[in-house]
Amino acid sequence: MSASRTCHSSSPFLVIILLGVLLCLMSTGAESQLSPTFYSQSCPSLQKIVRRQVLNAIKNETRMAASLLRLHFHDCFVNGCDGSILLDLDDGEKFALPNINSARGYEVVDNIKCAVESACPSNIVSCADILALAARDSVLLSGGPSWKVPLGRRDGLVSNQTLANTNLPSPFESVSQIIAKFANMDLNITDVVTLSGAHTIGLARCALFSNRLFNFSGTGAPDPTMDADMVEDLQSVCPQTGDGNTTAPLDRNSTDAFDNHYFVNILANKGLLSSDQGLFSSDDAASTTRELVRAYSQNQTLFFADFANSMAKMGNIGVLTGSSGEVRTNCRVVN
Ligand code: HEM
Ligand SMILES: *[C@@H]1O[C@H](CO)[C@@H](O)[C@H](O)[C@H]1NC(C)=O
Ligand SMILES: *[C@@H]1O[C@H](CO)[C@@H](O)[C@H](O)[C@H]1NC(C)=O
Ligand SMILES: *[C@@H]1O[C@H](CO)[C@@H](O)[C@H](O)[C@H]1NC(C)=O
Ligand SMILES: *[C@@H]1O[C@H](CO)[C@@H](O)[C@H](O)[C@H]1NC(C)=O
Ligand SMILES: *[C@@H]1O[C@H](CO)[C@@H](O)[C@H](O)[C@H]1NC(C)=O
Ligand SMILES: *[C@@H]1O[C@H](CO)[C@@H](O)[C@H](O)[C@H]1NC(C)=O
Ligand SMILES: *[C@@H]1O[C@H](CO)[C@@H](O)[C@H](O)[C@H]1NC(C)=O
Repeated sequence: MSASRTCHSSSPFLVIILLGVLLCLMSTGAESQLSPTFYSQSCPSLQKIVRRQVLNAIKNETRMAASLLRLHFHDCFVNGCDGSILLDLDDGEKFALPNINSARGYEVVDNIKCAVESACPSNIVSCADILALAARDSVLLSGGPSWKVPLGRRDGLVSNQTLANTNLPSPFESVSQIIAKFANMDLNITDVVTLSGAHTIGLARCALFSNRLFNFSGTGAPDPTMDADMVEDLQSVCPQTGDGNTTAPLDRNSTDAFDNHYFVNILANKGLLSSDQGLFSSDDAASTTRELVRAYSQNQTLFFADFANSMAKMGNIGVLTGSSGEVRTNCRVVN
């Protein structure tokens, strides 16, 4: 891995600007809340740079939109949106069960950070903010909604693998367990359903759903809440003798497009993960998530509006502001 990756260092005169900006920020003393205009003086080209880098990454590999969106989510659920998932520490979040051999896009984040560092004073824009902007741009460039991203997060100094294993939801958990994990992050049932709609793009490995295909819960048959044709198809993609790393689309209808087909699929028993289908089919869902899944399957406009709202909420989890944490030079290591 390229932990020692270097960016262009900024010129001395930029460093002087940086000091000036820092002094300004310190004297206003009003930096405890995020704001979409946080970098409008210190790095006016930030949003254009991130957009262009994300576009290039998606042009090279469409799936990268999904991977970048997921990185922001997995960052926010562990000690807040503080870029802690990016740290290259053996005992860090990167190597927690939900992330190892799974989370991806780290090189793209490095590229964005380098581009930002060469266009703006160094150590101004945090890695945590880059993740939030990249997630938004990934959704937008995949055909989904846009929203203003509140900025001014600072980067964390620790990356807690135990907490990543505890806080991140598993596809084998019940709807109630997942609702509880979101509630711990101050996210409600609406947020659970809207944000699960992120599974309208991207892929999942067989190991995360193959328990549904052959002998579901010891019944000797596949999961009855999965469409029979889909079962048959996935049985050949994910043979019982396979290594579990083969991938299948989370949204079989339109894998690369951010739309409401994730919800349309679920109504047709075509959710891939048990946790996806459970939002509609489980007993728990009846009094919690089911009607919202139905509503989003019928109204993409409603889904888009609610998704944008929930993403902004998720992006606010446990943020470090003011003089807490730091702004990392290299997203993979603390300064
Ligand atoms: C509700 C609970 C959730 C569970 C149980 C869950 C579980 C998973 C699993 C098991 C995978 C496949 C991982 C692999 O193959 O290694 C996945 C992929 C993905 N998840 Fe989730 N997820 C949840 C919520 C979310 C949220 C809130 C977001 C973003 C807002 C999200 C975005 C994604 C994306 C975009 C992918 C595809 C990534 C890629 O193709 O690289 N998920 N999720
Ligand atoms: C393009 O995507 C491929 C995977 O599809 C990856 O191996 C390669 O590193 C990417 N190239 C760039 C320049 O990002
Ligand atoms: C990680 O988080 C857990 C749970 O909050 C806590 O008990 C533990 O001390 C933390 N570890 C580190 C290294 O911060
Ligand atoms: C969840 O919070 C949003 C505000 O962000 C609110 O509009 C919505 O009604 C809440 N949903 C539930 C089920 O409480
Ligand atoms: C399914 O699994 C159960 C226990 O997990 C086992 O007893 C049973 O023999 C299996 N059935 C088939 C058809 O493999
Ligand atoms: C998947 O790939 C990883 C690394 O490439 C490997 O360590 C693992 O054993 C493979 N199999 C499963 C089931 O994850
Ligand atoms: C996706 O869904 C639309 C309508 O919901 C349908 O017309 C189309 O055939 C589906 N495409 C695939 C590949 O399943
Ligand atoms: C879909 O949701 C939007 C946004 O809430 C609403 O304005 C519109 O009336 C809904 N459309 C239908 C057909 O219900």
